[in-house]
Amino acid sequence: MSKIYDALKRAEREREVARDRDVEPNGHPVAYQPATGDEEDDYRRLRASLLFTPSYSEVHTIVVTATRHSEGTTRVAVGLAKALASEGDTRVLLAEANMRSPSLARTLPLADGPGLSNYLAGEASPETLVKRLGDANLSIVTAGDRPEVVDCEAIVTAIAELTPNFDFVIIDAPPVNRYADVSVLGPKVDGVILVVQADETPVVEAENAKRTLDRVGARIFGVVLNRQKSYVPATLQALL
Ligand SMILES: Nc1ncnc2c1ncn2[C@@H]1O[C@H](COP(=O)(O)OP(=O)(O)OP(=O)(O)O)[C@@H](O)[C@H]1O
Ligand SMILES: [Mg+2]
Repeated sequence: MSKIYDALKRAEREREVARDRDVEPNGHPVAYQPATGDEEDDYRRLRASLLFTPSYSEVHTIVVTATRHSEGTTRVAVGLAKALASEGDTRVLLAEANMRSPSLARTLPLADGPGLSNYLAGEASPETLVKRLGDANLSIVTAGDRPEVVDCEAIVTAIAELTPNFDFVIIDAPPVNRYADVSVLGPKVDGVILVVQADETPVVEAENAKRTLDRVGARIFGVVLNRQKSYVPATLQALL
């Protein structure tokens, strides 16, 4: 009995330390996203942590990236864009700048049509490029056909041409540790949200991502700890 009690006490302390470690290091707000929780609520909290932190009042264009593929960049970008668009008359553009592994065209119920790469190639007008998601205030630009060469400078310019019509622009970008794209995009926007996967992303990958973003002068708005499961402390696991 006392063994379990001791383990629980140790677990509680471990959890406090883990919580402090997540929040303290750089003063960035951290948004938790429990895998089994209410996802819409998680994104409303992420939205709130972005908008109601005084130093982040000039948030307009945000790049979402991860350290590696499949950590949840697109899921977070879509969730955040929907949460922002759900408030009043807020007009939001979700722009897919990920031409490495685009997925919006097949995962969202969007009409077929050209994407960003087609616009860059002079094959599409802004009117045909921007698609509305249902009746919502959310507009989407998909990546388009995969180009031979990804020109991130041109992507930034193209997105900037579209932004005057929107209150927020969320940019779904490829992983920062795999491609140089975010090193170009990051410093040109208001800030970057970094997605890491709970219990999966190696610390060294997260550190590399932060180092890269700092080096290029990108402002890190915060880190989303994606797919966080309910907390089972190591000390308790050892007893089970
Ligand atoms: N919190 C979550 N709960 C459940 N499924 C999730 C969660 N986050 C991501 N997924 C799923 O994991 C898969 C990969 O996520 P996603 O497409 O967002 O990754 P990504 O970082 O955009 O990958 P890539 O870099 O290749 O574009 C998707 O099927 C997505 O729905
Ligand atoms: Mg993606």
